[in-house]
Order: sequence, then C-alpha cells, then structure tokens
Amino acid sequence: MATAKAHTNIALVKYWGKKDQQLIIPQTNSLSLTLDEFYTTTRVNFDPGLTADQVTINHKLLSPAAARRTSAFLELVRQRSGRQQFARVDSINHVPTAAGLASSASAFAALAGAASAAAGLSLDRRELSRLARRGSGSATRSIFGGLVEWHRGHDDSTSFAEPIMEKLDFGLEMLAIMINTKKKKVTSRQGMQASVTTSPYYASWREVVAADMQAMKDAINRRDIPAIGHIAEENALRMHALTLSADPGYTYFSSATLTAIQAVRALRENGVGCYFTMDAGPNVKVIYDRQDRDQVISGLTQTFDRDQLVVSPAGPGIQIWNENNNQSLL
Ligand code: PMV
Repeated sequence: MATAKAHTNIALVKYWGKKDQQLIIPQTNSLSLTLDEFYTTTRVNFDPGLTADQVTINHKLLSPAAARRTSAFLELVRQRSGRQQFARVDSINHVPTAAGLASSASAFAALAGAASAAAGLSLDRRELSRLARRGSGSATRSIFGGLVEWHRGHDDSTSFAEPIMEKLDFGLEMLAIMINTKKKKVTSRQGMQASVTTSPYYASWREVVAADMQAMKDAINRRDIPAIGHIAEENALRMHALTLSADPGYTYFSSATLTAIQAVRALRENGVGCYFTMDAGPNVKVIYDRQDRDQVISGLTQTFDRDQLVVSPAGPGIQIWNENNNQSLL
C-alpha cells in the first residue's frame, strides 16, 4: 500500500497536440507552474481478494466504465512490475474536476506515484514523469514543483519533464477565477486532436511554441514577471485560436471568460501588472507578482465574488509515503 500527493500545474507555454496518441508524445515542448492550492491525494493497495479494480474519487465508487482510464493505467503498472492483483484506489481531489483546472494532471501524477510504489517499483522522478505521461500529458509536469519544462522527446524514454526552478526565488503567483466547475463538453484529448488534424494554423503553432519556450526561459532567468505574463497570455490566446480554427470549430470560452479577460486588461490599463491564461475550460487564471496580490483581488472583486477567486503560490513536487509507518518512499 502507498499514498501519493501531487499538485496540479498550469501551463505558461501550452501543450496542445500529440504526435503519438497511445504513448502521449506531444508535438511540442511545454512549460508550467505547479500550484500549491490544487492537489490530489491517492492511496493504492494491490489486493489479492479483489476481482476487479475498485476506484473511489472523493469517497464515491466509480462504475467500471468510469474507472476504465484508471484501470488502463494500473495495467501499465501491473505489466511493468509483474503484479497480477487488482487494486483498490482511493483518491481525494482538491481540484474542481474537469473544469479546465487540470485535475487530470494531479490525478495521474498521484496515481503514478502511489501505484508504482504500491507495486514495489522504485522509480526515480524522471521515470515517474514518463509513467504519469501515459495517463495524461499534463501529468508529466506535475511530478515536479515550481517551474517545469516537459521535453517532448521522440519516444517513451525521451519524453519527460524536468524542473527549471523547483523553489521559486521570486514572487510569481497565480489566482484562479472560478467561473464554472461543471464538466466540459470537449475533452482536452478530443480538442487537441481536432486541432492537430483540422486547424490550418497547426504548423504555425509549432513555431510559436518553439519561440515562446525560448523567450519564456529567458524571462524566467531575468525573474521578469511582466514578460512571463505577456508571453503566457499571447501563448494561451494562440492555443485557443486552434480551437476556433478547427473543423468543426469550437471554444472553451464562456461569456464570463471574456468578462474576466476584460477585467484583467482593465486592471493592467490602470497600472496593475497582471496577465491571464486559460486552459481546456472556461476558468481564467491570473498571473502577477505576489506583492500586487491585494490590488489584483480588489480590482477583480468589482466584477467577481471574492469566493470565486482562489490564490495559489507555486507548489511542490510529488510526495509518496507508506501510511502504515509514515515512511517516505521517494
Ligand atoms: O494532458 P491534458 O489532457 O490534461 O491536456 C492539457 C492541455 C492544457 O491544459 C490546455 C495545456 C497544458 O499544457 O496543460
């Protein structure tokens, strides 16, 4: 039996498209910030008494159909470890599920950590990152804390994440504007594949990301939050242009998303350094220097309720432990 806690991450340079759908090898590199406030804790126990995997999320037992993705992931761990038993998986998600707040990132990172340790595999963080990738692309980066780069690589062994700065020594912070916590209609998996195969702009996106990765790393080296925010904002808008330009076109934006974008821009015009990013859902994340937090919050509460705003500093990498003796397994 093993338990793992992994935090979610928000990309500053987005991953939007796979080269290999089975192995989840991405088309481009990407770069993210791990968040302290949103995380998943998962316990895995391989049990000879079980006749199927049993999965609970937030204390609710999933139907076999709903547990299929978890079971497929556990199958990878069984193959690798030689274990035959089914597993009991209990997961608590401190992230609103499927609202574009990347719950799959923390969920599959935590599952990779707990399942591999429970199966007796002792993987290092790079191997964990590769394993988490098989569950969900963004999970690749959630093994590490702080600012993280996912190298796209070209096969299973070369596609993994690495920290750029695990403990931030400057004030980069994020605030999530919780617009909608309901499940999204187009999953990121479907959405990105539609962009790769039907958007006429997809080739340009690869070039955009290559340039943004370099500019973002330079901005991080300078601890230049306005530059980080600006690059992240433009990168997010270009990613979302791939949804509008797919055939059929679609969008993750709701009218409240546009309201939030306008609120951030208005704050910036009034001299508050803040920037926005959005993922596969309507929620907006705001990037700023923590010394400006009060100004950002007081500006946004003119448009949104205070309880829709969740502040999160940078968060840590994965922790894995044995609950029986509280011993760390990583
Ligand atoms: O790996 P997934 O299916 O969670 O897709 C993540 C896609 C984005 O969140 C929009 C971008 C990213 O890099 O996390």
